[in-house]
Amino acid sequence: MSYQGKTVLITGGASGMGLLCGQCYAREGAKVALVDINGEELSRRVEEIRAYPAECVGICIDIRDYPSVEKARDEVVERFGSIDLLINCAGGAECRILNVHGEFHELPIDVFDFGIDLNLKGAVYFDHAVLAQMAKQNSGVIIHLGSITGYEGSANNVAYAASKSALMTGVTKSIAQAGAKYNVRCVCIAPGPVLTRPGMANMKTMMGRAAEPQEIVDLIMYAASDKAAFMTGNYILIDGGRHLFQM
Ligand SMILES: NC(=O)c1ccc[n+]([C@@H]2O[C@H](COP(=O)([O-])OP(=O)(O)OC[C@H]3O[C@@H](n4cnc5c(N)ncnc54)[C@H](O)[C@@H]3O)[C@@H](O)[C@H]2O)c1
Repeated sequence: MSYQGKTVLITGGASGMGLLCGQCYAREGAKVALVDINGEELSRRVEEIRAYPAECVGICIDIRDYPSVEKARDEVVERFGSIDLLINCAGGAECRILNVHGEFHELPIDVFDFGIDLNLKGAVYFDHAVLAQMAKQNSGVIIHLGSITGYEGSANNVAYAASKSALMTGVTKSIAQAGAKYNVRCVCIAPGPVLTRPGMANMKTMMGRAAEPQEIVDLIMYAASDKAAFMTGNYILIDGGRHLFQM
């Protein structure tokens, strides 16, 4: 599973599973680029990783802005020479992030737009920009983060559910098809509740608990490794059996 000397670009890298991916890959000898909108947290986390020691760069952008996404891609290539792995972690449910409450039809439509821009377009923008680089290299892996919400829906966070559903099927399949001739794989990891926030502990699963972030990151690292070289265009639910309640 060696990523020694390879370049890993992670969006949403200042916290949660994105940060944990960055820390794990840095410990394996990868050159790590963390992208996040939260500049302060990003700088702190980049310094911590550099102290391992490891090569790490932080790029503070809003992934909803395509020109910034292209600039981030160029900065990483200029600094590290390649992008071998893209992990699209940035995202989250719009009502939680915007701190708005109410029924879907009562909320301003901007809430929906925000959720789509962040969770769907942000990831696809990175796929688009980075696939251009991976095609030149004739190699690469792209990982999407789906969600059990993309499987079961959400009455309030409609954009989040729609975006995660799209990432899990249409986008992952399409990018896998677009990337195949360039030796680029695309896989989506779709977690159930994960303890990146204490609130997730209350969500129901068959296993009676939420996941530790490391359990999800281990699967991401497997799917991105050469051990999973035959895996592309699919999503994997890792949800403690929560989807079984829907049957
Ligand atoms: N935590 C869970 O229970 C869970 C479950 C299923 C799926 N997921 C998905 O996994 C991924 C990671 O989740 P997490 O809980 O580790 O996330 P998190 O909330 O800890 O981190 C998300 C990061 O994305 C960054 N971000 C938000 N908006 C951004 C923007 N516009 N541009 C750049 N960066 C931005 C945030 O600053 C933050 O650092 C997300 O896509 C999430 O939807 C999480």
